[in-house]
Amino acid sequence: LTPEDKTIILDSIRDIPDFPKPGIVFKDITTLLNNPRALSTLMNHLTERYLGYDLDYIAGIDARGFIFGSILADRLGVGFVPVRKKGKLPYTTVAEKYSLEYGFDEVEIHIDAFGENGCSLEGEKSKVLLIDDLIATGGTAKAAANLIDKVGAHCVEACFIMELGFLKGREGFSAPVYSVLEID
Ligand code: PRP
Ligand code: ADE
Repeated sequence: LTPEDKTIILDSIRDIPDFPKPGIVFKDITTLLNNPRALSTLMNHLTERYLGYDLDYIAGIDARGFIFGSILADRLGVGFVPVRKKGKLPYTTVAEKYSLEYGFDEVEIHIDAFGENGCSLEGEKSKVLLIDDLIATGGTAKAAANLIDKVGAHCVEACFIMELGFLKGREGFSAPVYSVLEID
Protein backbone atom coordinates (compact mmCIF):
# COMPACT_ATOMS: atom_id res chain seq x y z
CA LEU A 1 0.00 0.00 0.00
CA THR A 2 1.62 3.28 -1.09
CA PRO A 3 1.36 6.43 1.06
CA GLU A 4 -0.84 7.90 -1.70
CA ASP A 5 -3.23 4.92 -1.55
CA LYS A 6 -3.34 5.19 2.24
CA THR A 7 -4.27 8.87 1.94
CA ILE A 8 -7.03 8.10 -0.59
CA ILE A 9 -8.60 5.63 1.85
CA LEU A 10 -8.05 7.74 4.99
CA ASP A 11 -9.48 10.89 3.37
CA SER A 12 -12.63 8.99 2.37
CA ILE A 13 -13.56 8.18 6.00
CA ARG A 14 -15.24 11.00 7.92
CA ASP A 15 -15.37 11.79 11.64
CA ILE A 16 -18.77 12.32 13.26
CA PRO A 17 -18.35 13.82 16.75
CA ASP A 18 -20.63 12.71 19.59
CA PHE A 19 -22.16 9.69 17.80
CA PRO A 20 -23.70 7.46 19.08
CA LYS A 21 -22.89 9.03 22.47
CA PRO A 22 -21.27 12.29 23.68
CA GLY A 23 -17.46 12.04 23.61
CA ILE A 24 -17.26 9.34 20.90
CA VAL A 25 -15.77 10.37 17.55
CA PHE A 26 -17.46 7.97 15.17
CA LYS A 27 -15.54 6.84 12.08
CA ASP A 28 -18.09 6.88 9.26
CA ILE A 29 -17.16 4.48 6.44
CA THR A 30 -20.27 5.20 4.31
CA THR A 31 -18.19 7.87 2.57
CA LEU A 32 -15.59 5.23 1.73
CA LEU A 33 -18.26 2.90 0.35
CA ASN A 34 -19.79 5.52 -1.94
CA ASN A 35 -16.36 6.55 -3.26
CA PRO A 36 -15.44 4.04 -6.02
CA ARG A 37 -11.78 5.09 -6.16
CA ALA A 38 -11.28 4.69 -2.42
CA LEU A 39 -13.23 1.43 -2.25
CA SER A 40 -11.32 -0.20 -5.08
CA THR A 41 -7.96 1.06 -3.74
CA LEU A 42 -8.82 -0.63 -0.44
CA MET A 43 -10.18 -3.85 -1.92
CA ASN A 44 -7.24 -4.18 -4.33
CA HIS A 45 -4.86 -3.90 -1.39
CA LEU A 46 -6.72 -6.49 0.69
CA THR A 47 -7.03 -8.84 -2.27
CA GLU A 48 -3.29 -8.62 -2.94
CA ARG A 49 -2.45 -9.26 0.71
CA TYR A 50 -4.78 -12.21 1.26
CA LEU A 51 -4.21 -13.98 -2.06
CA GLY A 52 -0.92 -14.94 -0.40
CA TYR A 53 -2.76 -16.68 2.47
CA ASP A 54 -4.26 -20.14 2.32
CA LEU A 55 -7.80 -19.30 3.45
CA ASP A 56 -11.00 -21.34 3.45
CA TYR A 57 -13.46 -18.69 4.69
CA ILE A 58 -13.87 -15.05 5.55
CA ALA A 59 -15.93 -14.27 8.65
CA GLY A 60 -17.36 -10.74 8.68
CA ILE A 61 -18.71 -8.98 11.76
CA ASP A 62 -22.24 -7.48 11.82
CA ALA A 63 -22.82 -5.06 10.19
CA ARG A 64 -19.98 -3.25 8.43
CA GLY A 65 -17.70 -6.30 8.35
CA PHE A 66 -20.30 -7.92 6.06
CA ILE A 67 -19.61 -5.38 3.32
CA PHE A 68 -15.81 -5.61 3.16
CA GLY A 69 -15.85 -9.32 3.96
CA SER A 70 -18.27 -10.22 1.17
CA ILE A 71 -16.37 -8.28 -1.48
CA LEU A 72 -13.08 -9.86 -0.38
CA ALA A 73 -14.53 -13.39 -0.19
CA ASP A 74 -15.77 -13.12 -3.76
CA ARG A 75 -12.44 -11.75 -4.98
CA LEU A 76 -10.51 -14.57 -3.25
CA GLY A 77 -12.98 -17.28 -4.28
CA VAL A 78 -13.71 -18.41 -0.69
CA GLY A 79 -16.92 -18.63 1.34
CA PHE A 80 -18.33 -15.85 3.51
CA VAL A 81 -19.65 -16.41 7.04
CA PRO A 82 -21.61 -13.77 8.99
CA VAL A 83 -20.93 -13.23 12.70
CA ARG A 84 -24.25 -11.72 13.74
CA LYS A 85 -25.72 -9.78 16.62
CA LYS A 86 -27.84 -11.94 18.93
CA GLY A 87 -31.13 -13.35 17.71
CA LYS A 88 -30.64 -12.95 13.94
CA LEU A 89 -29.28 -16.34 12.83
CA PRO A 90 -31.94 -19.01 12.15
CA TYR A 91 -30.03 -22.28 12.73
CA THR A 92 -28.20 -23.60 15.85
CA THR A 93 -25.69 -21.03 17.12
CA VAL A 94 -22.96 -20.47 19.67
CA ALA A 95 -22.81 -17.05 21.36
CA GLU A 96 -20.36 -14.71 23.15
CA LYS A 97 -21.10 -11.60 25.19
CA TYR A 98 -18.71 -8.63 25.05
CA SER A 99 -18.32 -4.95 25.89
CA LEU A 100 -17.38 -2.26 23.34
CA GLU A 101 -16.47 1.44 23.26
CA TYR A 102 -20.09 2.46 23.90
CA GLY A 103 -21.93 -0.43 25.54
CA PHE A 104 -22.50 -4.19 25.72
CA ASP A 105 -23.66 -6.70 23.13
CA GLU A 106 -23.64 -10.36 22.10
CA VAL A 107 -22.59 -12.04 18.85
CA GLU A 108 -23.47 -15.44 17.40
CA ILE A 109 -22.33 -17.79 14.67
CA HIS A 110 -23.87 -20.89 13.09
CA ILE A 111 -22.39 -24.02 14.63
CA ASP A 112 -21.66 -25.56 11.19
CA ALA A 113 -20.58 -22.33 9.45
CA PHE A 114 -17.06 -23.63 8.69
CA GLY A 115 -18.06 -27.27 8.10
CA GLU A 116 -18.90 -29.98 10.64
CA ASN A 117 -16.82 -29.34 13.82
CA GLY A 118 -15.22 -26.42 11.95
CA CYS A 119 -13.34 -28.82 9.68
CA SER A 120 -13.06 -29.58 5.96
CA LEU A 121 -14.23 -32.94 4.59
CA GLU A 122 -10.60 -34.13 5.02
CA GLY A 123 -10.84 -33.36 8.76
CA GLU A 124 -8.54 -30.31 8.72
CA LYS A 125 -9.47 -27.21 10.72
CA SER A 126 -10.93 -24.58 8.40
CA LYS A 127 -8.66 -21.52 8.04
CA VAL A 128 -10.63 -18.33 8.63
CA LEU A 129 -9.85 -14.64 8.15
CA LEU A 130 -11.88 -12.44 10.49
CA ILE A 131 -12.73 -8.97 9.15
CA ASP A 132 -14.43 -5.83 10.42
CA ASP A 133 -14.33 -2.15 9.53
CA LEU A 134 -12.83 -1.00 12.82
CA ILE A 135 -11.17 -2.22 16.01
CA ALA A 136 -11.64 0.02 19.05
CA THR A 137 -11.53 -1.77 22.42
CA GLY A 138 -11.31 -5.10 20.59
CA GLY A 139 -14.27 -6.50 22.52
CA THR A 140 -16.33 -7.32 19.44
CA ALA A 141 -13.51 -8.87 17.42
CA LYS A 142 -12.19 -10.92 20.36
CA ALA A 143 -15.69 -12.30 20.93
CA ALA A 144 -15.91 -13.16 17.21
CA ALA A 145 -12.49 -14.86 17.30
CA ASN A 146 -13.66 -16.88 20.31
CA LEU A 147 -16.70 -18.02 18.31
CA ILE A 148 -14.48 -19.20 15.44
CA ASP A 149 -12.48 -21.18 18.00
CA LYS A 150 -15.60 -22.53 19.75
CA VAL A 151 -16.99 -24.05 16.54
CA GLY A 152 -13.64 -25.78 15.90
CA ALA A 153 -12.12 -23.62 13.14
CA HIS A 154 -8.84 -21.64 13.14
CA CYS A 155 -8.66 -17.83 12.99
CA VAL A 156 -5.58 -17.17 10.84
CA GLU A 157 -5.69 -13.36 11.20
CA ALA A 158 -8.02 -10.54 12.18
CA CYS A 159 -8.18 -7.70 9.64
CA PHE A 160 -9.55 -4.18 10.11
CA ILE A 161 -9.76 -1.18 7.84
CA MET A 162 -9.15 1.11 10.83
CA GLU A 163 -7.60 0.67 14.27
CA LEU A 164 -8.09 3.13 17.14
CA GLY A 165 -4.60 2.49 18.51
CA PHE A 166 -5.10 4.40 21.77
CA LEU A 167 -7.76 1.89 22.88
CA LYS A 168 -5.21 -0.95 22.63
CA GLY A 169 -7.72 -3.44 21.22
CA ARG A 170 -5.00 -5.59 19.65
CA GLU A 171 -3.44 -6.38 23.06
CA GLY A 172 -4.18 -9.94 24.11
CA PHE A 173 -5.72 -10.88 20.76
CA SER A 174 -5.49 -14.63 20.15
CA ALA A 175 -4.65 -14.19 16.43
CA PRO A 176 -2.34 -11.81 14.51
CA VAL A 177 -3.99 -8.43 13.94
CA TYR A 178 -3.63 -6.45 10.70
CA SER A 179 -5.07 -2.99 10.22
CA VAL A 180 -4.88 -0.92 7.05
CA LEU A 181 -5.00 2.43 8.89
CA GLU A 182 -4.02 3.19 12.48
CA ILE A 183 -5.36 6.27 14.27
CA ASP A 184 -3.63 7.50 17.47
C1 PRP B 1 -18.59 -1.15 15.65
C2 PRP B 1 -17.54 -1.61 14.65
C3 PRP B 1 -17.01 -2.84 15.33
C4 PRP B 1 -17.08 -2.50 16.81
C5 PRP B 1 -15.71 -2.12 17.33
O1 PRP B 1 -19.76 -1.85 15.48
O2 PRP B 1 -18.10 -1.88 13.38
O3 PRP B 1 -17.79 -3.99 15.05
O4 PRP B 1 -17.98 -1.38 16.91
O5 PRP B 1 -15.71 -1.79 18.69
P1 PRP B 1 -14.85 -2.59 19.78
O6 PRP B 1 -13.50 -2.86 19.21
O7 PRP B 1 -14.79 -1.65 20.96
O8 PRP B 1 -15.58 -3.85 20.12
P2 PRP B 1 -21.10 -1.57 16.31
O9 PRP B 1 -21.12 -2.42 17.54
O10 PRP B 1 -21.27 -0.10 16.48
O11 PRP B 1 -22.25 -2.20 15.39
P3 PRP B 1 -22.81 -1.90 13.90
O12 PRP B 1 -21.75 -2.36 12.94
O13 PRP B 1 -24.03 -2.74 13.85
O14 PRP B 1 -23.07 -0.42 13.80
N1 ADE C 1 -16.87 1.15 17.00
C1 ADE C 1 -16.36 1.40 18.20
N2 ADE C 1 -15.88 2.65 18.27
C2 ADE C 1 -16.11 3.20 17.05
C3 ADE C 1 -15.84 4.46 16.48
N3 ADE C 1 -15.23 5.42 17.19
N4 ADE C 1 -16.20 4.68 15.20
C4 ADE C 1 -16.82 3.72 14.48
N5 ADE C 1 -17.11 2.51 14.97
C5 ADE C 1 -16.74 2.26 16.23
